[in-house]
Amino acid sequence: MSHQGVRVECISTRLSPLFQSFRKPVCRYLCIFDSFDRYNMKPSVPEVKPSTVGPTEGEGGWTVEQIPKDTEHGRKLYHGVYRPFRLKMLKEAPNSFSSTLARETAFDEEVWERRFENPLALTFVALVPDQSHQSAMSVGKIVSALTLRGPFHIPPHQGEDVNVSTDPYWEINAVYTDLEYRRMGIASAVLEEAVQHVISVQQKMGLRRFSLKVGVMMGNEEAKALYEKAGFVLVGKDSDGGDDLVRYFGGD
Ligand SMILES: CC(C)(COP(=O)(O)OP(=O)(O)OC[C@H]1O[C@@H](n2cnc3c(N)ncnc32)[C@H](O)[C@@H]1OP(=O)(O)O)[C@@H](O)C(=O)NCCC(=O)NCCS
Repeated sequence: MSHQGVRVECISTRLSPLFQSFRKPVCRYLCIFDSFDRYNMKPSVPEVKPSTVGPTEGEGGWTVEQIPKDTEHGRKLYHGVYRPFRLKMLKEAPNSFSSTLARETAFDEEVWERRFENPLALTFVALVPDQSHQSAMSVGKIVSALTLRGPFHIPPHQGEDVNVSTDPYWEINAVYTDLEYRRMGIASAVLEEAVQHVISVQQKMGLRRFSLKVGVMMGNEEAKALYEKAGFVLVGKDSDGGDDLVRYFGGD
């Protein structure tokens, strides 16, 4: 997929070449709340409402949406439906993620609430009507999801190569589709929704050059194929042998 005049990049899991170039290790999964302080990164929060794209519909009755942070629907969807889905993905695909089921099962309400409220982390989900809880109050069943984090900006450090890019970057993580919904294009649709959001926010900020990054664990060829199909390119290996993929926007 290509977006004219826009370049996207998808980054690394644990120690991307970009981070290596700043000699600052980054632990992908832990950083949602504290990466800025710990690694001296500067968040650049756009002054726009996050909901810039409408739901995407797919064959089979699923829709893709961003979980809103400012509505009761969003709160209910996140805490009531996404949280168990998140634990399920850690249980079903323990080798695909840096976090673990044991770690996140131990999270208390405060941690989940901080995750929900985090202005630099948005969750996109594919929903189908929940047959087991058919009621007007039901928000549906999540069958695929991802988390988009950003925009981030790494300030140049004293003595660093001035040519090192300091363009904003975003990260994708926690990508998962339920087993019975795989190979239907659902993860691709969720990813595309996230990409459209990034483009929209960047355009509103007036910044054309940015990148989108993702880290894939060693041997996860399905995930690599998913990202490569979406225009990400392999940029290197992390210290554990995982693959770092990036999609650039606004390049030459
Ligand atoms: C990777 C994953 C998210 C893909 O979800 P999905 O909804 O099945 O993905 P899609 O149907 O949108 O597939 C898009 C493309 O990805 C590639 N792909 C997906 N699954 C694949 C597989 N099992 N084998 C080879 N390629 C695969 C294909 O290129 C596919 O396009 P195609 O079906 O037209 O050939 C899913 O397999 C999953 O949840 N895996 C476990 C968790 C995980 O690894 N997450 C990624 C962490 S980085």
